[in-house]
Amino acid sequence: MEAKLHKLSLLVEKNLARYISDKNEYPPVIYKAAKYSLFAGGKRLRPILTLLAAKACGLSYSDVMPAACAMEMIHTYSLIHDDLPAMDDDNYRRGKLTCHKKFGEAIAILAGDALLTRAFECVLMCSKNRKIKPKNVINAALEIADGAGMKGMIGGQVLDITSEGKKISPGMVDYLHKCKTGALIRASVAAGAILSDADKKTVRLFSRYGEKIGHAFQIVDDILDVIGDEKEMGKKLRKDAAAKKATYPSIYGLAGSEKKAEKLVLEARDILAGINRNTDDLNEIAGFFMKRTH
Ligand code: IPE
Ligand code: IPE
Ligand code: MG
Ligand code: MG
Ligand code: MG
Repeated sequence: MEAKLHKLSLLVEKNLARYISDKNEYPPVIYKAAKYSLFAGGKRLRPILTLLAAKACGLSYSDVMPAACAMEMIHTYSLIHDDLPAMDDDNYRRGKLTCHKKFGEAIAILAGDALLTRAFECVLMCSKNRKIKPKNVINAALEIADGAGMKGMIGGQVLDITSEGKKISPGMVDYLHKCKTGALIRASVAAGAILSDADKKTVRLFSRYGEKIGHAFQIVDDILDVIGDEKEMGKKLRKDAAAKKATYPSIYGLAGSEKKAEKLVLEARDILAGINRNTDDLNEIAGFFMKRTH
């Protein structure tokens, strides 16, 4: 799996360079800042999930590549904004200085905005592919907007920030994690299935799988904030407790958090078992989510 993920991440990287570049690149600083964060590294998990879901449903990687790259652009924008002084105030990301440390806050905010806008341009590019029905492009764009927006990632980020220092219920911690990280990962998987013209029931199953592994992914991120290695993670750790964030370890402890993540991954795998397609890679990637150290 590691080798396959590496190969796919290189493929995504190559295409990201195509989709973010322009003829004139004016004003240069905004392209520089967006590319600086986009090409700082990153596991490229969200676009890989789009590619694998599409493949399982009958399209090729190249057919859905613009939408896959869009998922990475939205993710990178969310990280640039997440690191701003008004949010988590971080100086390092993906092993490099954060965007605002390198280019200043104003340009970092605009680089995030630019990536989000370009992402939807990329999703719409799928309508130029005759193998993809226009209605599926529209539905994929709606799904991605839903995952990235106020009902999804933005809503989760708002709850993350407004819950700092407060005692919040386990139910709220669940909801927050599902939104903050689960929703975009869910949309990454679902978009691949939607673009491939999968039927409604199948899309629903892929979505539920994505939601579960996305939720588990943020729990593992919270665990790694406590026990991870800063060099390997490429970001400052031990910050959640200092900022009094509403995390799983703060409520369930490390062992309880691991258990919860494991349960979600098992549930995700059960959902895949009910899909009548070859979902071996998605099954393996779910295990990788648990075992990751960065
Ligand atoms: C980090 O995401 C932030 C979260 C949403 C948990 P990733 O762990 O996917 O970060 P990169 O893209 O590999 O840097
Ligand atoms: C970020 O969560 C989730 C996003 C939507 C960007 P964190 O704030 O825990 O991510 P890291 O730990 O800074 O990567
Ligand atoms: Mg945050
Ligand atoms: Mg953060
Ligand atoms: Mg974190």
